[in-house]
Amino acid sequence: MEKIIVITAGAEPFLDFSGYKNAQNINIVHDFDVIDADELMCLIFVKADEYARSAERLRGKKNKTFVYSFVVFGPAPDSYAGWELQTISELRTSPLSGSELEFTINKSFMAMDKSLQAVLREKYSEAMLEDTRRDQDDLINIGRSLSIEKDPQKLLSLILYLSKKITGADAGSIYLMEEDEDKQKWLRFKVSETYGRNIPLTEFVMPLNKNSIAGYVGVTAKVLNIPDVSKVAEMNLGLTHNNSYDEQNNYITRSMLVVPMLNHHDEVIGVIQLINSKEELSDEYRGDEAFNVLLDSKEAFDRYVVPFNEKYNDLLQAIAGQAAVSIENNTMMIQIQTQFEEFVKASVNAIEARDPATSGHSFRVAEVCVAMAKAVNEVEDGYLGEFHFNDTAIKELEFAALLHDFGKVYIDLNIFRKEKKLFQKDFESLMMRLDYLYRCVELSFCMQKNSQSERDLLLAQIKDIKDKIKLLNEPSVMDGSPDEIIEEIIKKIKEIPCFYPDGADMDVVTINDKENLSIKRGSLNIEERKEIETHVTHTYNFVSRIPWPAGYKDIPEIALRHHEKLNGTGYPDRLAGRESTMLQSRMMAIADIYDALASSDRPYKSSVPMEKILIILKEEAANGTLDPDLVDIFINKKIYESVAKQHA
Ligand SMILES: [Fe+2]
Ligand SMILES: [Fe+2]
Repeated sequence: MEKIIVITAGAEPFLDFSGYKNAQNINIVHDFDVIDADELMCLIFVKADEYARSAERLRGKKNKTFVYSFVVFGPAPDSYAGWELQTISELRTSPLSGSELEFTINKSFMAMDKSLQAVLREKYSEAMLEDTRRDQDDLINIGRSLSIEKDPQKLLSLILYLSKKITGADAGSIYLMEEDEDKQKWLRFKVSETYGRNIPLTEFVMPLNKNSIAGYVGVTAKVLNIPDVSKVAEMNLGLTHNNSYDEQNNYITRSMLVVPMLNHHDEVIGVIQLINSKEELSDEYRGDEAFNVLLDSKEAFDRYVVPFNEKYNDLLQAIAGQAAVSIENNTMMIQIQTQFEEFVKASVNAIEARDPATSGHSFRVAEVCVAMAKAVNEVEDGYLGEFHFNDTAIKELEFAALLHDFGKVYIDLNIFRKEKKLFQKDFESLMMRLDYLYRCVELSFCMQKNSQSERDLLLAQIKDIKDKIKLLNEPSVMDGSPDEIIEEIIKKIKEIPCFYPDGADMDVVTINDKENLSIKRGSLNIEERKEIETHVTHTYNFVSRIPWPAGYKDIPEIALRHHEKLNGTGYPDRLAGRESTMLQSRMMAIADIYDALASSDRPYKSSVPMEKILIILKEEAANGTLDPDLVDIFINKKIYESVAKQHA
């Protein structure tokens, strides 16, 4: 504590310093400007008519921790208005002799010392009060923050950050408890932070026992507040400090506060270890010492590191308790999420297993959709620049894509498996009727109802009809109109006498055969196509029944629209324009078509080469069925490559 004597102008004649020994080595000056120390006691000799001016100059320095006292010379004023009488130790009309001066100086500094102690106590109380207020604010925020953070690693960092902030710790680590198959418990070093240093963290495990400080707290579930870790042996806990970390990182571990993280059942699930409190409750207190005071030299460690305030023993344990609950909730939530995700995937697998031709389709569509969403996130301009998919939105899209064809479970499997225009049984019975016709012709010849040449001609015709029907039955596009070919076949058959044994006429080619054989593209007729199209509404109805959390509420709508087309030719509602469907559905439409073309496992369709697929997608965009901006992204960002690689 610095002591100063100021002799203001005009006061000199009243002071006899000749016999003053200045045993305390007090600085004697003639101007207030030298008063710049943060803590000091100041005795001012001043003439009465100078008092007001001097007092005014001192008032400006009141932010400092210092006390001062006046010895005033001269006649008493008419009025003491404006005088701070508590700062006046003496009012004299006569000069101070040598011995009087010595006595006055000693007496004044003793009195000032007392009031300085009072000031410091008051400042400590103020700082303590301010710290408690900040701690309370932090506690309120902690509860909220911990319940909001969903990412487990970020949650741990947040817990550590808040613990350090409250206690003013320079460094800290969090260990989490683990149990192996042999029921042996371990502490896993999960997160660590030291202010102003970037020390790379390597996760490691150590056995849970009392050999280490963190282990001790993990075993005993008791808080350890160690004022000086170099003297930890004196605490008789059987602990010693391993300073290899300090040596490696040029660090000095001094004070430590180590608390267990207890869950609802009072079981230790982890340990928070805080090192080197820098929180000095003085008038320098700012509340952000943890992230403000840099310990970069031995002097800095000596100057700033203090033991952890005892009040944090309970407070930090309360925080650790909240943290434990958050970690457990978080773990449970992730577990439930993972289980649900696995359940969805298993269900999708089960459905796709019904039809090996489309196996893996939903998973691949989901991958393409996720890759496209991430690519959209990188777009800065154009209408896509306005979209951003956060983690939840990407998960929502992934679920929607996984489930987009779930409604197919409600559709007759035979339709999916229909490889040719006629179902196998219909084809076989048509062939049997033609064989019967063949026999009828032979029978007629035996019964001498027709000549040999007529017979041969008819039999050749039937053979030809069978060949034509086999060809017609193929789903590939054929030369000529199938309708004309069928009409011609029917006409020819009618010319061949054919009858049931009871004499009734026989329809060799039924209406059903005719309808199916005249399919122009693929193997499905209009009704079958319509039935397949209902899969989107089935998906919607099914997926809507799942009580999705808030971030996933659009899953039914996204999945419902994956066959809508931009120009209004899609299904189920023929919605036109970008405004009428969600971007996610339009991405899914591209992913769906891409996979249908790229997969080699569709019935009677070999995979289309990539160059051809890209041309088809571009054409679809040009025709107004697919979103051209999204097709551009799909092609330019080579989404297909990243997905193809994963399946290579
Ligand atoms: Fe679909
Ligand atoms: Fe699909």
